[in-house]
Amino acid sequence: MAKENKKNIKKYKNIILYGFMCSGKTAIAKEFAKKFNLKFIDTDLIFKKKYGRISEFVKKKGFKKFREIEKKIFKKAISQKDSIISAGGGIFPGSSKNCLEIFLNPSFKTLEKRFINNKKTRPLLSRYPENRIELKELYLKRFKKYKKAEYNIKETNKNKIINLIKFYYENNKIKNRERN
Ligand code: S3P
Repeated sequence: MAKENKKNIKKYKNIILYGFMCSGKTAIAKEFAKKFNLKFIDTDLIFKKKYGRISEFVKKKGFKKFREIEKKIFKKAISQKDSIISAGGGIFPGSSKNCLEIFLNPSFKTLEKRFINNKKTRPLLSRYPENRIELKELYLKRFKKYKKAEYNIKETNKNKIINLIKFYYENNKIKNRERN
């Protein structure tokens, strides 16, 4: 590669996975990090380590406080490098300079199959399936925001998702421009 081209190509700083609850962000990020020697960061895990269970916290202090802390955790996470970050479902693409932003996008039908086993850990799922309609509305509202990510992966097979992320990470380096 010509010298001048080489210096104009900059690798992504981090990978960020966005998406609705149960879209697989944590599991994928964890495995990807292990496989490709990146740092695994999960905003929910960081929160839990410091403040305990999210459901309990939200019950006592409310979602507003949770969002405030979550925002700070995310800001710190994206300031790192060579990480793959699993962003909580209430975080959206757009403000993460030089990061590869990916929306994990299985269908709502697929997500619903996973909701039932995740009721206890997520306050928004505690009333599932009674609040199914509300959740669907929330999903549709958020969908537009998640879609702003550079890539959107509908695939649900774990290995295929990992390969796609690897492909995007390696083959779409930032050329001559600052992203976001
Ligand atoms: C939330 C998603 C959860 C967690 C919290 C709120 C949301 O993270 O941050 O329960 O608002 O969608 P996951 O997306 O990792 O489940």
